[in-house]
Amino acid sequence: MSPAARPSSKTSKRTAKALRVVVTAGPTREYVDPVRFLSNESSGKMGFAIAAAAAKAGHHVTLIAGPVNQPTPQGVERVDVVSAREMLAALKESFADADALFMAAAVADFRPRRRLSGKWKKKEDGADDAVLELVKNPDLLATVARRKGKRKVIGFALETSNGVRRALEKLRRKNADYIVLNDASALSAGRSSVQVFGAEGEVARVEDRPKAEVAAVLVSLLDRD
Ligand code: CTP
Repeated sequence: MSPAARPSSKTSKRTAKALRVVVTAGPTREYVDPVRFLSNESSGKMGFAIAAAAAKAGHHVTLIAGPVNQPTPQGVERVDVVSAREMLAALKESFADADALFMAAAVADFRPRRRLSGKWKKKEDGADDAVLELVKNPDLLATVARRKGKRKVIGFALETSNGVRRALEKLRRKNADYIVLNDASALSAGRSSVQVFGAEGEVARVEDRPKAEVAAVLVSLLDRD
């Protein structure tokens, strides 16, 4: 782009309001051995749509993505990670300089206690059962939001029952400013319905819209006081 075509930071309204926004997206993978892992159905679509909408709104976006098959949205800086602990390390680094976080990733709650260096073999005695020992992963959202100061933190809740009660409980427990409640049908779909809760109760609701539209509503949470 020639210097003349570049928007001036003094004249561009979008640049004046530009925030540093971190978005996490997709699943994490927790490896059992070199070829097997625990993960979930997350496609990353919602997080990628939020990153795209935030960049379109003029924000500086860092997208921390688990293993997904999604193109990087225009103008977004992408950091690829695999496990929950890798995501936490990338998140801590980006959140240090950020103004806001959308924690849309479907982080695996548990990981195998040990990652085997060779392939996990069936027992030679022909046993029909096996035990995989799991340990809890850190709660990434709660970890970084604990000392968030003025940074705006938006978490997600995927619930199959008692959604509103559980979303409000997560809002408090994870020290988020907002929690976006959705259900399992949204996991790899192109559309989604969400309810957004803040300390003041429900602040937004979107019914069965394409994720790009849902994302634009969520990004507008950054304009609220
Ligand atoms: N989350 C996180 N780290 C984890 C698990 C979840 O940061 N280890 C974040 C998700 O990115 C999401 C929010 O926490 O923004 C809610 O995730 P969810 O899996 O619904 O909540 P859990 O803490 O796992 O609670 P529960 O198992 O009771 O549903």
